[in-house]
Amino acid sequence: MNIKLSNGKTIPVEMHKVRIVQKTYLVPIDERLKAIEEGGYNTFSLRTKYIFLDMLTDSGTNAMSDNQLAAMMVSDDAYAGCESFYKLADAIKDVLGFSYVLPVHQGRAAEHLLAKVFVKAGDVIPMNYHFTTTRAHFELAGGTVLEIFTDEALNTQSTNPFKGNLDLQKFQDAIKKHGREKIPFVRMEATTNLLGGQPFSLENLREVKKIASAHNIPLVFDGSLISENAYFIKQREKKYENKSIQEIITELMSYVDIFYLSGRKSTCVRGGFIATNNKKYFEELKPWLPLYEGFLTYGGMSTKEIEAMAVGLREMTDINVASSAAEFVKYFAERLIEQKIPVVTPPGGLACHLDAKLFLPHIPQTQYPAGALSAAVYLASGIRSMERGTISTDRDRDGKEVLADLELARLAIPRRVYTMSQLEYAVERLKWLYEHRDLVKGLKFIEEPPVLRFFFGKLAALDNWGAKLTEVFKKEIGPNY
Ligand SMILES: Cc1ncc(COP(=O)(O)O)c(C=O)c1O
Repeated sequence: MNIKLSNGKTIPVEMHKVRIVQKTYLVPIDERLKAIEEGGYNTFSLRTKYIFLDMLTDSGTNAMSDNQLAAMMVSDDAYAGCESFYKLADAIKDVLGFSYVLPVHQGRAAEHLLAKVFVKAGDVIPMNYHFTTTRAHFELAGGTVLEIFTDEALNTQSTNPFKGNLDLQKFQDAIKKHGREKIPFVRMEATTNLLGGQPFSLENLREVKKIASAHNIPLVFDGSLISENAYFIKQREKKYENKSIQEIITELMSYVDIFYLSGRKSTCVRGGFIATNNKKYFEELKPWLPLYEGFLTYGGMSTKEIEAMAVGLREMTDINVASSAAEFVKYFAERLIEQKIPVVTPPGGLACHLDAKLFLPHIPQTQYPAGALSAAVYLASGIRSMERGTISTDRDRDGKEVLADLELARLAIPRRVYTMSQLEYAVERLKWLYEHRDLVKGLKFIEEPPVLRFFFGKLAALDNWGAKLTEVFKKEIGPNY
């Protein structure tokens, strides 16, 4: 919730209290240097014991509520027909309005099944933007991802409230060009993770649905951050300012043929599902579920997580839950902007994103500025962020490097996990790093996996810049923190 201070400023205030805590570690900068060098300048390689604030992702790292934890204790582990599944199915019906449910172990498993069943060689899948695993699954099935975002989407210094909108004209042109039979579905991602958690408007979804329906193209909705997208609609789309999060979700869902999500985000658990009201789609997907995931009533998820997800789905319609990450992201971004640090605007749903092209303009994209920035943030602060740029974009089918549209270092805000003073620490260290940005140089691959290379790739710092940055930090701030 936002509270107005007597000086006129607004701050987000947590509408929950902390009852269980986890120890965190802030190790001296020499140890951080050793850890990042051994890990090939890839923040995925770092161990928790070397990390102070883990802002790699909001995926599966959110704080659960007491009611979610309590629900886990009464889970039913039956292989088939477990009662926990029916609680989840009821929650999906109540909150999202779908009758057919296929639980899966996480979001990418849903993408795998959708690709397996609906995407064939030569297909084209229009979407407002890709997510790494989405593109990989659709391409492995022989399809091509067609990103038809609006021109404003790639402007990192924008005031456009809905940079996640799909460009309607480009959608119509794509249908004309490729033909309906080559388009198995159109996919809308709420919110667009790789664009910086940017939402789409309800009006945009309504129009996308109109065009899709006119050509009998199903609409697939990736709702991994559905409560945040609904919150942004309430905040930014005038017509919906007095609607509840549930009312907005209900209207969003009225346009959807197949819904899926990673439960690791808005619902604050670990798992996922596909849901639909279309029996034919359900029957087409169902036989593959036990083969790849697990029986229909657990789908690869622990039944404890299923219980917690049923509660999390209902809780995400509470505005204090739906807004918790978004308002902290906004506060964080605004504090960084005060220091003139380039961040993606408007602030998005899952993270504060540093614009590495603006932060480190001297590093060419072929030397991975977002990867270098992410490693430098860790060195300067012990905070783990994630590269979302060219390293996260695999080579094309001919093995050529594909330069990403955006070079971002993502500082995710797991829901209800970090405090204001921790954010202030992050602002302070990022300010120091920005003042010393000339010391940061590029990276080069020394081990490069063939797919999703950002996970396990190893890189080296050009010109040994990590050690040099560490020396200056020790001189100016001290040997420790
Ligand atoms: C929008 C979106 N879709 C799909 C996924 C994949 O979900 P998971 O990580 O649970 O496999 C993610 C994960 O971050 C995501 O953000």
